[in-house]
Amino acid sequence: MRVLVTGTAGFIGFHLARRLLAAGHAVAGVDSMTPYYDVALKERREEILLAQPGFSNHRLALEDSAGLDSLVAAFAPEIIVHLAAQAGVRYSLENPRAYISSNIVGSHNILESCRHHPVRHLMMASTSSVYGANTEMPFRETDKADHPLTLYAATKKASEEMAHAYSHLWKIPITMFRFFTVYGPWGRPDMALFKFVKNTIEGRPIDVYNHGQMKRDFTYIDDLVDAIVSVIACPPVEGQPVSPVDTLSPVAPHRVLNIGGGQPVGLLDYIDTIEQALGIPITRNYLEMQPGDVPSTSASPALLEALIGSRPQTPIGVGVAEFVRWYLEYYGR
Ligand SMILES: NC(=O)c1ccc[n+]([C@@H]2O[C@H](COP(=O)([O-])OP(=O)(O)OC[C@H]3O[C@@H](n4cnc5c(N)ncnc54)[C@H](O)[C@@H]3O)[C@@H](O)[C@H]2O)c1
Repeated sequence: MRVLVTGTAGFIGFHLARRLLAAGHAVAGVDSMTPYYDVALKERREEILLAQPGFSNHRLALEDSAGLDSLVAAFAPEIIVHLAAQAGVRYSLENPRAYISSNIVGSHNILESCRHHPVRHLMMASTSSVYGANTEMPFRETDKADHPLTLYAATKKASEEMAHAYSHLWKIPITMFRFFTVYGPWGRPDMALFKFVKNTIEGRPIDVYNHGQMKRDFTYIDDLVDAIVSVIACPPVEGQPVSPVDTLSPVAPHRVLNIGGGQPVGLLDYIDTIEQALGIPITRNYLEMQPGDVPSTSASPALLEALIGSRPQTPIGVGVAEFVRWYLEYYGR
């Protein structure tokens, strides 16, 4: 297959592209190397991909609609996995414009490209953050998700809805993924696991929000990539729901899909697990809840299981140990 992946210098895009290349697919990668976090880490991921046969790299901004259009026309992908975005919940309070630009304008440009160059299946990354103020657990895709708490969540919800309109009008098969806190080797420096390990190794305390009274449905990166690769082969077909819990639109080949295992872990247990993997005591600095944060997330994996027959299962101890192993190898002690 020819697969176009956006965000290939990013955490998830890098892992997905590596997996697709290893399976013999041709991958065109798009990334503009935004400076949101350490660009050297993005460059290293990019270098690794460039060493694999079948990879073509495009340092291109999603906002460059003409550039994106000519790439899609020339590469003629059968599949597009759109992962590039301005990610991060907290940064959306500091730099909201970056979210409008990458997530709204950028995602719209991807949709426009698919309108002019039809693909078999377009997949786009949304987030568990769209569940916003919802408190009923687990989060089901069929629940209303109308109360976002950050602009990050609002832009992702908007992209789900722009995708629905394009899917309806131009019959583009689209799956919108709602990812739940993804972690693992090559993970993001702005996320808790990375910060906890880095601070502890450097002899500094870690900030623990809401006094540790938080829960997250953590998803190990290899499980996430397994799920995406399986879903590639399951484009939504209008009029053919796969389960009573399907979110398939009645008027478009469009589906919203949680990717999470449904086994939330308490933040304090998570920190204990990191402490064990590192073998260094972690000093905790307990703080109040951050604006825009949610206390808990938990995915209903029922639709994912109906579609692909499995769900993320890697135990947190295994996944955290893999991250620590990578961190120490990459950055040293
Ligand atoms: N990691 C998670 O826990 C998580 C959870 C929910 C949703 N998501 C979503 O999954 C996707 C991938 O996340 P990630 O963790 O790999 O993030 P990441 O920041 O590591 O990767 C995103 C990549 O997109 C690129 N990018 C950003 N704006 C761009 C633009 N305008 N043009 C071109 N490239 C641009 C960045 O340079 C970066 O390399 C994102 O859409 C994110 O919102 C991630």
